[in-house]
Amino acid sequence: MTKYGSFPGARPRRLRTTPAMRRMVAETRLHPADLILPAFVREGISDPVEIGAMPGVFQHTRDSLKKAAVEALEAGVAGIMLFGVPEESKKDALGTAGTDPDGILQVALRDVRDEVGDDLIVMSDLCLDETTDHGHCGVQDDQGRVDNDATLERYAEMAQVQADAGAHVVGPSGMMDGQIGVIRDALDQVGHEDVSILAYTAKYSSAFYGPFREAVGSSLKGDRKTYQQDPANTRESLRELALDLEEGADMVMVKPAGPYLDILARISDAVDVPVAAYQISGEYAMIEAAAERGWIERDRAIMESLTGIKRAGANMILTYWATEVARQL
Ligand code: PBG
Repeated sequence: MTKYGSFPGARPRRLRTTPAMRRMVAETRLHPADLILPAFVREGISDPVEIGAMPGVFQHTRDSLKKAAVEALEAGVAGIMLFGVPEESKKDALGTAGTDPDGILQVALRDVRDEVGDDLIVMSDLCLDETTDHGHCGVQDDQGRVDNDATLERYAEMAQVQADAGAHVVGPSGMMDGQIGVIRDALDQVGHEDVSILAYTAKYSSAFYGPFREAVGSSLKGDRKTYQQDPANTRESLRELALDLEEGADMVMVKPAGPYLDILARISDAVDVPVAAYQISGEYAMIEAAAERGWIERDRAIMESLTGIKRAGANMILTYWATEVARQL
């Protein structure tokens, strides 16, 4: 065999020769405690309803949600993020179900806390879109525009009722200016200094939220582009980050995850607080749909997508596969 020059001069392939060797040199390892399970609970149903665009994910009843929480805990998952889906007739312009102590999310928070105590971190989505009849994340002014400061008042109240109901962590996802500061003050005022804020810091206006709209029965017409970020931008994420930290965010989040790994890496490099990433409904649906058609190896694709998110700098990953993946690890 002729040798051409002196190449290869180095042989990186040596470190890829066997599974044992690859395992030893792996830089990124997923752990069940990296994972947080987002879960939906729907009012007024007697059996769980599977979400069409998210096969394997359900709108839970109160009972099936408790079961899902216990299963997540037993699998070693770190936390659960709850979304409430009220009965259609209870939606209104102000999203009052979101501040009603008997609203579905608050009821579910109490259920789950009773079940898991302090062993699983219980988180709540703090946003109005699930409870408003117009489907926006905030209340509207008389011109139909989302009114930032009027929305902040609603968020302050939501934070208090969610914390009263047992949330360890609230997750403000509405992208209103000043939301973290207002929520921190509201929590502190009523003695919830220990409730943490996971700020949805860089939340992009994404087509990949599509299946979630079905999951929460969203009534939204139009879009969220006046409050969620433009996918074209990086700098405004850094600005949102600075503001959220200044206002008192305990943890920050990037959402979606997969299409925004560059943002995740930038933010992760820049902060000294834990960083979360949300692998959202559309990211889930794409892999499930391709796998169903036999176009992709499902389990490998799931693990690769999560490894990529962790490699980019996430300490915590919200994923609808949390329990399943935790069991495999
Ligand atoms: C807003 C919220 C959304 C998601 C989480 N919180 C929807 C949106 O902003 O349009 C999306 C999560 C997902 O797609 O999995 N309450």
